[in-house]
Amino acid sequence: MTSQPQRPAFGTLLASHMAVATYHNEQWSSSELKPVAPLEISPAAHALHYASTCFEGFKAFRHNDGSIHVFRMDRHIERLRQSARQLVLPQPDHLQLADMVRAVIQRCRDAVPEAPGALYLRPLLFGTTPNIGAAATPSTEATLIVLASPVWDYFAGGMKPLRILVDDVNTRSAAQMGMVKTGGNYAAALGPTLAARAKYQVDQVLFCPGGQVQETGAANFLLLRKDELLTRSLDPSFLHGVTRDSLLHIGRDLGYAVTERPFDVKEMLGWARTGEAALSGTAAVLAGVGTLIYNGESFTVGGGQAVGPLTLALRAQLIAVQRGEQPDRHGWLERVV
Ligand SMILES: Cc1ncc(COP(=O)(O)O)c(C=O)c1O
Repeated sequence: MTSQPQRPAFGTLLASHMAVATYHNEQWSSSELKPVAPLEISPAAHALHYASTCFEGFKAFRHNDGSIHVFRMDRHIERLRQSARQLVLPQPDHLQLADMVRAVIQRCRDAVPEAPGALYLRPLLFGTTPNIGAAATPSTEATLIVLASPVWDYFAGGMKPLRILVDDVNTRSAAQMGMVKTGGNYAAALGPTLAARAKYQVDQVLFCPGGQVQETGAANFLLLRKDELLTRSLDPSFLHGVTRDSLLHIGRDLGYAVTERPFDVKEMLGWARTGEAALSGTAAVLAGVGTLIYNGESFTVGGGQAVGPLTLALRAQLIAVQRGEQPDRHGWLERVV
């Protein structure tokens, strides 16, 4: 039996340095690279009371020749700027934030694990105006931080098909906030997810308000069958995953008919009988679903016992591009070191 080295859980280990910039008097300060340490923050800060906070998550990969490449950083920066607009927070400057990310990767280059590990980058933006009466007033001051965290293979213990509760009652977020990567959405999903874990021993909840399939608490949802891929079309109700977008491109490259449109629980359960279902996101890339639980009934996806071959093939293809083992035909990687 091969023993797996003990790795810290995803997100629990921070690299040594962070980049910080602040917004005052309608402009961003220049950014500073400094050792990760506690921040001083007013207890009246806007974010602590009124949740004016958003973040991003993406990865940099070490290739075989030792070089380090960040994956689709531009898309993630634009998504953070969009989140900031929706939360009426000062928008980070795209070029400044990209430089902050590069500076952190360069400073923490020794912390970037070999494949299948990666350096997870976590830009964080929050409102700091000290005013506990600002429930209906935006924060005019803000802090922008870039943290980094070495992460290893999400599925080091082997890839098990996931058990998912299909929830057509709860919503994951306020309707217009789904596409915003803000802490409040995760807080809203936590209660239903913990309740579902306790009651049905599921891994995640698939939110399907009004019977329309949306996404889980932290990943997008895809249906696959031979040469076909179906996922919900973009609308403000869910997060526009960069992994989702990458997989749709790769699917098209591989000759799949890719369809983006709304679909309901009934159609999903029909598809899942013979096809595959999977969750996509930066952390897990593409994770296969083995069981869907709906109205107390269990529905097996495909074979149910193992992650399906289409899911595994798409996942392998995306990982090969990220690791520099397949040509980067869409220009998704930027070499930083
Ligand atoms: C709610 C939610 N949906 C989808 C995703 C997947 O997004 P991405 O592929 O950009 O990581 C995430 C993860 O970031 C998420 O938190």
